[in-house]
Amino acid sequence: MQNYSRRDFVKFLGYVSSGLVTSSWLASCANVANQKLSSLTGLKPSLEDNVKLIDSLSWKRIISWKDSLSEKDKFGYNNDYINYLELSHDELLLWVNNEYINPLFVSGEKRTKENIDKEIYNVGGSIIHLKMKEGHWSFLKNSKYNRRVSGFQEIPFSNSQIIKGRKSAMGTLGNCAGGKTPWGTILTCEENYDYCYGERKFGQREVKASYHSWEKFYKNPPEHYGWVVEVDLRTGKSIKRVEMGRFAHESATVIQKDGVLVVYSGDDKAGEHLYKFVSASQNNLEHGTLYVADLTQKKWLPLDVEQDSRLKSKFKTQLNVLMYTREAAKLVGATPLDRPEDIKINPITGDVFIALTNNKKAENYHGTILKVSEHFGEYDSLIFDYEDFLIGGKDAGFSSPDNLAFDKVGNLFFATDISGRSIGKKQYSSFGNNGLFFVPAHGHDAGKVIQIGSAPVDAEFTGLCFDPSGKRMFLSVQHPGEQSKGLDRLTSTWPHLADKLPRPSVIEISGSFFS
Ligand code: FEO
Ligand code: CA
Ligand code: CA
Ligand code: CA
Repeated sequence: MQNYSRRDFVKFLGYVSSGLVTSSWLASCANVANQKLSSLTGLKPSLEDNVKLIDSLSWKRIISWKDSLSEKDKFGYNNDYINYLELSHDELLLWVNNEYINPLFVSGEKRTKENIDKEIYNVGGSIIHLKMKEGHWSFLKNSKYNRRVSGFQEIPFSNSQIIKGRKSAMGTLGNCAGGKTPWGTILTCEENYDYCYGERKFGQREVKASYHSWEKFYKNPPEHYGWVVEVDLRTGKSIKRVEMGRFAHESATVIQKDGVLVVYSGDDKAGEHLYKFVSASQNNLEHGTLYVADLTQKKWLPLDVEQDSRLKSKFKTQLNVLMYTREAAKLVGATPLDRPEDIKINPITGDVFIALTNNKKAENYHGTILKVSEHFGEYDSLIFDYEDFLIGGKDAGFSSPDNLAFDKVGNLFFATDISGRSIGKKQYSSFGNNGLFFVPAHGHDAGKVIQIGSAPVDAEFTGLCFDPSGKRMFLSVQHPGEQSKGLDRLTSTWPHLADKLPRPSVIEISGSFFS
């Protein structure tokens, strides 16, 4: 099948959307909350080893890797997705994904059990109790709620499914983005699981070895990972939601409207697909139908063994379809995409926005943000329309969009994920470090792309999450100093603490821009 991005990049050559600006650095924009027009000077690209923000925003560190959560637990590594449960008007339980590890900082290159144990502990997620103090969110160190859900926690599969002989998996890992259910639980997505326990195709016995070799000490099958995991923040109790399929789940974006509950998810690998799960119930995610997007026909294709004889003849059971979702999707004719990452739904228009980060092999270096409009705005519709909302590139002022967030009035915020080894080089030389960008929904600058933040060296901003008031945003600063070749050759020392180590951290950003 022809690759979507290649085809459409040709189609869109010469097309300048309202989102593509040539001078976004000195643009004015609509104020987020009151929509008054005010003058805003966007940031210039920067290679500085710090969090830089426009003048009307400032940041405060909330928690960093290795900080103690309790007597027993420490905050995990490489924090990503953030969401919360409101305990009261001034207290939140924050969920923070801890996606992956870097042996240089977390453990050591040698594949000893001791080093691998440190790595397994540092992935999964962290639950932290926050309290509002003097207008800012602060971490409550000794709260009974503070805990880790790590790569060691035993987590059952939904509906008592037995996968490779077991009813539960050892831990969760690769926790990239996620979602939040209407009943207040968090969905955390297991993305690059193959780095830890390898991968295997349907019908094969042999497992392709992993990058981190965790299987050397823990004989966990790859099929135990790559799921969406639902977490209760009050208890840490978790469950792997098998019905949403198994692939490198980037996010699990939930929408409930008109008696329909749907979860959108992208598979972050070049040539992989966009999915949605239509739940059979409004109160849980136990049963439902998984669909994959065919952009050529603008159709959602069911991945249901009882509805498709091709699936039935190859996979025999629905559990096999769900365990080897990528292979099932290709069999039914899903459209390959350029790394579908974060997904967010515009609260005003109802459209579904998907970051397609890039596909270097296909010479799509800068990515796009795709807009999908379900037929008549019905999220369980089987047909849809789509268009490119933003196209990255030098003139657009951004490259490689990943994490997205809308505020309450439909302004879009997004962060970029140019890989550490590419930042400032070749096709990426004009962009500086990864950034945070703002796309006003209103006013004469509607659709323009304005840089409002710049990340430390090698880092990306992830987990964009507004607090309940919308006046503050939680942000993950992930993988600072990732390109360091040794502890004596650090590329970053952010957040410039006493140990001078680069430490992934959660920050709060606030200021008149949001108020
Ligand atoms: Fe974990 Fe696809 O970013
Ligand atoms: Ca991501
Ligand atoms: Ca990414
Ligand atoms: Ca990344």
